[in-house]
Order: sequence, then C-alpha cells, then structure tokens
Amino acid sequence: MSTVIKRANQLRGAELLKGDGWNPLSWNQKEIEQLPAYPDTDKLQSSFDELKSLPPLITSWEIEALKEKLAHAADGRSFLLQGGDCAETFDSCTSVKLVNSLKVMLQMSFILIHEMGIPIVRVGRVAGQYAKPRSNDYEVVDGEKMMNYRGDLINSFMPKVEARLPDPDRLVEAYQKSALSLNFLRALSDEGFADLQHPEQWELDFMQNNEFYEEYEQMVNSINKAIKFMDAITPNRLNTSHKVDFYTSHEALNLFYESAQTRKVPRKTGWFNLSAHMVWLGNRTQQLDGAHVEYLRGIQNPIGIKVGPPFDIDNNLAILDKVNPNHEAGKIVLITRMGHEEVSKYLPSYIRAIKRSGHPVVWSCDPMHGNTYSTGNNVKTRRFDDILQEIRDTFSVHRSEGSNLGGVHLELTGDNVTECVGGANGLNEEGLSSNYETYCDPRLNYEQSLEMAFLVAKEWNKSQK
Ligand code: PEP
Ligand code: CO
Repeated sequence: MSTVIKRANQLRGAELLKGDGWNPLSWNQKEIEQLPAYPDTDKLQSSFDELKSLPPLITSWEIEALKEKLAHAADGRSFLLQGGDCAETFDSCTSVKLVNSLKVMLQMSFILIHEMGIPIVRVGRVAGQYAKPRSNDYEVVDGEKMMNYRGDLINSFMPKVEARLPDPDRLVEAYQKSALSLNFLRALSDEGFADLQHPEQWELDFMQNNEFYEEYEQMVNSINKAIKFMDAITPNRLNTSHKVDFYTSHEALNLFYESAQTRKVPRKTGWFNLSAHMVWLGNRTQQLDGAHVEYLRGIQNPIGIKVGPPFDIDNNLAILDKVNPNHEAGKIVLITRMGHEEVSKYLPSYIRAIKRSGHPVVWSCDPMHGNTYSTGNNVKTRRFDDILQEIRDTFSVHRSEGSNLGGVHLELTGDNVTECVGGANGLNEEGLSSNYETYCDPRLNYEQSLEMAFLVAKEWNKSQK
C-alpha cells in the first residue's frame, strides 16, 4: 500500500502564503507523500524554529561552484561521481566510517580521472542522507503493527510502536550529525588527504584472480606515481595546492528539515538550501502539484531527479518546466534508474523527449534502485553484474541517441560489508550474512566500488571512440 496523499502538519506562517508565490514554506499548503504526520505540532514548530536559527552547513558560493561543474558534466568535459549510503544513521557518524567513505570516493575518483582524463565531480550521499521513502506505511513486528522505519531523521529503527512515531527532536539531531560529519570531511579533504591516498591504502589483493588484474595494478602504480610527482613538485604538500573538492547531497524528503535551512543570502537573488550542495527528488514524490515539487521549484541548488518506472514522461517534462523554467545549465541532473532489463525499452524515447524539450540536463545513471531483489532467505541484495549491465546499457543507449552520460549514482560504502553479491571477490548469497549492516538498501563494499569505478571508466572510454 502506498502512502496516502495528505497535508503535512501546518506550521505557523504557512497559512499566510496564499497565491502562487513561492517561499520556503509554500509547500506546506500542498498535499504531500512520504512524510507521516508528527503527533505533536507544537513540538514540531519549536524544533523547526530552532533549526531555522542555527548557522548554515554550507555556503551559497559552494552551491554555485557545483552548478558550474555540473554544467561541464552535461557535455562530457567532466564526470559526476555521486555515491554513499542508502541511508546514513546517527550511529554511523563515526571517525572510521567517514574516513572510509571519503577514502573510497577519492580512490574511485582517481581511477576515473586516470582512465578518463577529465575532472571528476565528487558528490557524497552524506551529511544529511537521513530520510527514506517507503513502500508501506506500516509493518507488523512480533504481531504488533507499527509505522515503518523512515530513516533517523524521522523515527527510530527500534521495532516499538512509540519509537516509530515521527519525532521532531530528530530534525535538530540530524542537523548536528550532519555538521559533525561535514566538519570532519572538510578537515580530511583539506589536510588529511595525503594520508588517504597513500599507496598502502590501496587494497588490491581481491583483484588477483580477475581478468583485469594486471591492468588494474598498472593503473594503481601509475596513479601513485602521479601523486608522488605532484608531492615532489609541491613540497608544501599536495593538499595545500590541490585541495580536493567534495560535495554533499541527500534526498529532499523531509521538507521541514529542508525548508528550515533554506535561506536568503546577502547580495544574491533567490533562496539556497544550505543543508547540502545538491538535493534530489526521489522516485515516489514526483506529484506535479505536490509538496516536493513545490519546494524544489524555489531553490538555487542543483537538483537531481530520479527517473524510473512507473514512467510518465509528460509529468517529468512538466516538473522540468517548473524547477528549471530558465533552462539554467548545471541545474538538473536526471538520474535514470530503470533496472537492467528495462533500460533499452524506456531510455531511448525518454532521451528523445528531453532533447525535444530543449532542457539542458546532466544525465546520470543510478544502476542500484532498479536492481534490488530478495534471496530465498529474504535478504535484500543486488547483483554486481546487474548493476554493471545497467551501466553498460545506459552508456550504449546514450551512444546511439547521440547524447552524453555524464555521471553515475551509486549506493556504496568504504567498509567491508557483504550486501551485494558478485564482483571480483565472488561474494555469493550464502556469504551475505557475514557482514550485512544496512537498514535500507544493499551497498557496494570497498572492493566492489573500486572495481565498479574501473569498469565504468572502461565503458566511458568506449563512448569516446
Ligand atoms: C534512494 O536513492 O535511496 C532511493 C530511494 O531512490 P529512488 O527514489 O530512486 O527509489
Ligand atoms: Co536506496
């Protein structure tokens, strides 16, 4: 059963915003999907007010810089690597997890830079990816019916009726955890970068039985040589002269969280969501006259839009007209997530329709969300080969349509989890239970992520011939 469309709790100020004008709370007058009602509106109001008064996590000029870089990804001058957890949790805000996630994203980006020879735009699903859409509003645990877990931003994973109620305190806690994560990620990418890319940090053994091992080893050696070279010619350390850019993103799902952090900035026009550099519209909140589209039409940030079954091309085109009426370059990333069996069926006509509309978009491929299945033991997983197949087919359709695939969107972690099957290490379904951590969707682990980066680069190169 899908969530019934309804109004969210009404906050003060929202009722004054009549007419067509936009402001950060105008969405509050629209019907909304995927956001359950908070039991106590007064408590929600005070958390919202508190969040609204706190300093922003990021700046408007970083948002503008990302938009500019994305404009380059649209026509193949750079490539977008967006990746991270399906859902971050408050408990996963730890040193080890953040180091590992930055490390895997950096190493993947080095592989892509090395193989493709163009800049890579790194965008983490991190520092705010705390809210999840769900297919069912409720579940039954040990005979008791309770609300489904919707991510730490909304309720607790603990299977208790009370714990599953939406809790407004979580708005501020999510902000705090995001701030802590971002603070550490910024420090690492400014100063600790040299340690993260040190040769010993590349764990390669898993590739040994793979057909590409030699090629892979040569590539890593050559990356390390290049890094040493840069280190030698910039003796005050690579990081000071070549600070790595790392951007953040999350799904704009809980609009109380988003709108409390949507601000005006001195000397600039428009409103900025200062909780993340980029936010995206999920596959289930695309109602043209609904709250999520209403909110997104008013912000300056780059916006991702998931595109997957069930398809409604006209609805998608109307969303584009609403959120990017001036056809701004670098503003929209269309993230297709069709499932590996559906790409050739849906993508060609979709690409043609977007082309005809004249909307400038960055095409990205999310090969994860259309390829989830459950094993006989009811464990949610994805096959490495299906993920790769979707990437290959997506590249190939773009090639034949004369358009450009400008990025990938992956659920991954730098940890050695066992959540997706396949890859050079040959993880099988029996092995999934050994380190299965996710509360939500299965992620590629460290090794699978590096291998995938390598294979993505190979596919991209085919498109350049
Ligand atoms: C996600 O990216 O975690 C997600 C839920 O994706 P989608 O909206 O495409 O299903
Ligand atoms: Co997911």
